[in-house]
Amino acid sequence: MSNQPETQQRPLFVGKDDEVEAPYPLKLKGNVIKGFGRGGKELGFATANLPEEVSQYAGQFLESGILYGWASVNSNPLVYPMVMSFGWNPYYKNEKRSAEVHIMHKFDEDFYDKELRVIVAGFIRDERTYPSLDALIDDINFDIKVANNCLARPAYNALKDDPFLKPSQ
Ligand SMILES: Cc1cc2nc3c(=O)[nH]c(=O)nc-3n(C[C@H](O)[C@H](O)[C@H](O)COP(=O)(O)O)c2cc1C
Repeated sequence: MSNQPETQQRPLFVGKDDEVEAPYPLKLKGNVIKGFGRGGKELGFATANLPEEVSQYAGQFLESGILYGWASVNSNPLVYPMVMSFGWNPYYKNEKRSAEVHIMHKFDEDFYDKELRVIVAGFIRDERTYPSLDALIDDINFDIKVANNCLARPAYNALKDDPFLKPSQ
């Protein structure tokens, strides 16, 4: 048994380096709905929730877990890296999955009702339960590092320029 925290044992890169593999890239868009509101307050990571029908559509292609990719909001041509938690919401007794996107950028306003567009580029890890909130926060910080590393690879970086993310242009 190692004394290292589990996060340090996870790889800093996931997926193929030179190729985005199916079912990615997966394009999703929808107007942001209200989640439970814990994301920003408790975790320190604001999350924007995609509508139920978008999660249902995504569930045809994606495994549950933590994913990464690019995001844009409300026809703004700026594109940001994102990490997304796609999982079963216990509140709905495993009938519905929710897609909750954390954009790696500090915004002053919230996005409720604004159109969120994402391109999911790959899978980072399965969802887990944690002994403490701090352990979850550590893991999310590590997810963000993995996402930034992975998105810097040319095949993944190129997705940032997809016209889907720049609808106003
Ligand atoms: C990148 C990322 C990874 C996450 N990983 C997990 C996880 O492994 N296990 C878990 O219980 N919650 C995880 N969460 C937290 C929840 O899925 C959710 O985002 C949080 O509870 C806020 O929900 P709310 O917006 O409905 O309030 C993760 C969130 C993010 C942004």
